[in-house]
Amino acid sequence: SIAAHFKDHANKIYIGSALAPDHLSDSQYSSIAAAEFNSLTPENEMKWDAVEPSQGNYNYGPADQLVQFGQQNGMKIRGHTLVWHSQVPSWVSGLSGDTLHQTMISHITNVVTHFKGSIYAWDVVNEIFNEDGSYRSSLWYNNFQTSFVADAFQAAAAADPSAKLYINDYNVEYTNAKSNALYNLVKELKSQGVPIHGVGFQSHLAVGQIPSDFATNLARFTALGVDVAITELDIKQNGQSQDAQAAAYSEVIKDCLSVNGCVGVTIWGFTDKYSWISSDTACPWDSNYQAKPAVAAIEAAL
Ligand code: XIL
Repeated sequence: SIAAHFKDHANKIYIGSALAPDHLSDSQYSSIAAAEFNSLTPENEMKWDAVEPSQGNYNYGPADQLVQFGQQNGMKIRGHTLVWHSQVPSWVSGLSGDTLHQTMISHITNVVTHFKGSIYAWDVVNEIFNEDGSYRSSLWYNNFQTSFVADAFQAAAAADPSAKLYINDYNVEYTNAKSNALYNLVKELKSQGVPIHGVGFQSHLAVGQIPSDFATNLARFTALGVDVAITELDIKQNGQSQDAQAAAYSEVIKDCLSVNGCVGVTIWGFTDKYSWISSDTACPWDSNYQAKPAVAAIEAAL
């Protein structure tokens, strides 16, 4: 049994989970979420298709419910996400040129203004690179080439000057072509005075595949003058033991703790019951809310 909770140990870094408001009525879900974590990220409720399903028709109810839950429980709240190629409603995908640009800016302005004062950090742009480091073909890149990135950060900063503004991606946890491209972009944006304050490393990982240079890679980003965070951690068991999974969770927490400027770790859903990973068991709690060895290992590492 567990003597204390994650958040009781999270003095140097925050420890968060992605949450969904639909599950808050499940009392085991909400009590573990409130007891363990001091940060949350709405799993889907701040994405474009959720907040602006048709033009100018904003639907903030489900996200507001999570913000309220977070505030009642002393949690930081990470906003996720403003500009992404996925979960974009079809009314947006049909736009182009100046109309699309104005739509992007007014979406960012409206959403960031609505949550102003309650969001610790925004994932302003998400998943803009391919594995080879080129820009992903997307509505945004195909219309504006690279300029949408700086424009999105500027619009977010204008709407909430206090929020930390992040770029977020996956498969950037180690040194490779994709993380090199991300590094070069952050360096360029910083040199241009674009208001970027952090880099999010999603970290959808698997046992046996925790990068050995994770901390070194995080540190080269903090050397650019930005914070880093692990934003969407889950670790597939990958046919290995729960103890091996626990060791992998511990390793990732320690990687963050070893880097000045690594501000926190967010798990992308704490229970297998509702995890977006359905092909494996990747969370610290199983689908019956039983703590796996990962829970004690994370606690010990914090
Ligand atoms: C996922 C959610 O967990 C799912 O519920 C949804 O169906 C799809 O999106 N990268 C991200 C997250 O930045 O927003 C994604 O979340 C997982 C991958």
